[in-house]
Amino acid sequence: MTTESTNIKVGDLEFPPRKVWMKTYGCQMNYHDTERILSHLSGMNFTHTEEKSEADLVIFNTCAVRDLANQKFYSHLGETKKLKENADVDPETGLKRNVIVAAGGCIAQTEGKDLIAKYKQLDFAFGTDVVDNIGEMVYRAYSGDKKFSVTSWDRSENYSIETKITQGTPMAFVNIIKGCDKFCSYCIVPFTRGREKSRRLAEVVKDVSRLVEHSGIQEVMLLGQNVNSYGKDNGESLGQLIMELERLPGLVRLRYTTSHPYDVTDDLVEAHANSKKLANHLHLPVQSGSNTVLQRMLREYTVEHYLTLLAKMRKANPEMIISSDIIAGFPNETEEEHQATLKLLDDAQFDFIYSYAFSPRKGTKAAKMNDALNDDIRGRRLREIQDRQLKIQEKIRQGMIGKTYRILVEEKGLNKGVTKWTGRTSCYRLVHFEPETPESDYQWHWMDVEITSATALSTQGKIIRDLGKKIL
Ligand code: SAM
Ligand code: SF4
Ligand code: F3S
Repeated sequence: MTTESTNIKVGDLEFPPRKVWMKTYGCQMNYHDTERILSHLSGMNFTHTEEKSEADLVIFNTCAVRDLANQKFYSHLGETKKLKENADVDPETGLKRNVIVAAGGCIAQTEGKDLIAKYKQLDFAFGTDVVDNIGEMVYRAYSGDKKFSVTSWDRSENYSIETKITQGTPMAFVNIIKGCDKFCSYCIVPFTRGREKSRRLAEVVKDVSRLVEHSGIQEVMLLGQNVNSYGKDNGESLGQLIMELERLPGLVRLRYTTSHPYDVTDDLVEAHANSKKLANHLHLPVQSGSNTVLQRMLREYTVEHYLTLLAKMRKANPEMIISSDIIAGFPNETEEEHQATLKLLDDAQFDFIYSYAFSPRKGTKAAKMNDALNDDIRGRRLREIQDRQLKIQEKIRQGMIGKTYRILVEEKGLNKGVTKWTGRTSCYRLVHFEPETPESDYQWHWMDVEITSATALSTQGKIIRDLGKKIL
């Protein structure tokens, strides 16, 4: 690659400065892929813009987990037809600006070819396993090769990458395992992300230590669709990795997401007892409180096993808070099975949950089941789950009042005309607090705050101590 004036030469093509706009849907893994894409494109003279109308390259990073996510993307993709038609004219050449539109991520992985055929304005589609080849695809598009779809799987035995950072924050996502082998009966992810493959422990430790030493990273979120399956293919484990990362000077906080109850091993529980850097938070999706539904979901554990795990975790670390995911109205869920989920909420005492109405996904086992439920029943059950949980979490959060928590401050915002800053505790709760003076800038400061009030959805605090941007 050579640079001449402001252009960058890649292969036979000159790349002048251009702008890329991206829209990301779905989970942290997709957000992380977006960061990788932007990082690769910066080497081809693209800068990131938040303004779609000025973009030369528009990329959607899609999610297929529920129908709503699909519908949002189709509608946004539809709008790009006008974007291309209304592109401004270059005063020098008199030609309309050539806007390239691409779609990546989980929908593109399974529907890439269909999308290309259906949407005239879509130039190319790419799957989840070719994110690091975005440069080649953009090169192809600017060479005039249009309407192509790349959805191949990476067949190499090892999963080896270096984390890319574009955000300039002290927090980084670090992918440690890709894919999912679980095939829960409702879930599209194994089809969109392929089989599980872990990075080697030594590579991850080296990667994180580089981020801490050279990029100012202090908080790391280890990522995987089934993150606690990490290392099974190499005789390594997440618990082991956590205890290795614990030793890195300068790394302050460590998180991981998302875990499957089946793979919570004793060494992971021990890591929660022994690590000082591991956050006091575990997101452990349960999906249902009924053993018969769990069986139909192919989840490989029972409610009793799940509650035992929570007890072990809470014993290992009494400060631990647990959150979860619940699906309302799995096919043919009876009223009794639904009531079992409400009871589980009482028994588990989650700090928060993400809850969704079941959404049939083409190609999954659950989508082929004859289903006696309708949208009204699902909606009603979802509301009941959410109402019950809000009552539980309001009580739990009131227990925070008067206690002091260490937060990493992220941003400020206006709340009913009052400026408030917001940070996250080790246990992943957001805390809002007022600045000492309107000019105070606390972004990325570590701060001790005392909780002054708490509701189910919001927690307020006051400053006890400002520790600045670095703590040892
Ligand atoms: N790997 C995680 C686990 O094992 O629980 C879940 C990852 S999935 C991307 C995030 C959440 O989406 C799931 O926990 C589940 O609650 C929800 N989900 C997945 N498929 C769904 C479907 N077909 N309908 C409704 N919710 C779904
Ligand atoms: Fe989907 Fe189940 Fe894999 Fe989670 S573990 S990503 S719910 S198949
Ligand atoms: Fe969605 Fe794919 Fe993540 S389906 S939730 S973006 S793995």
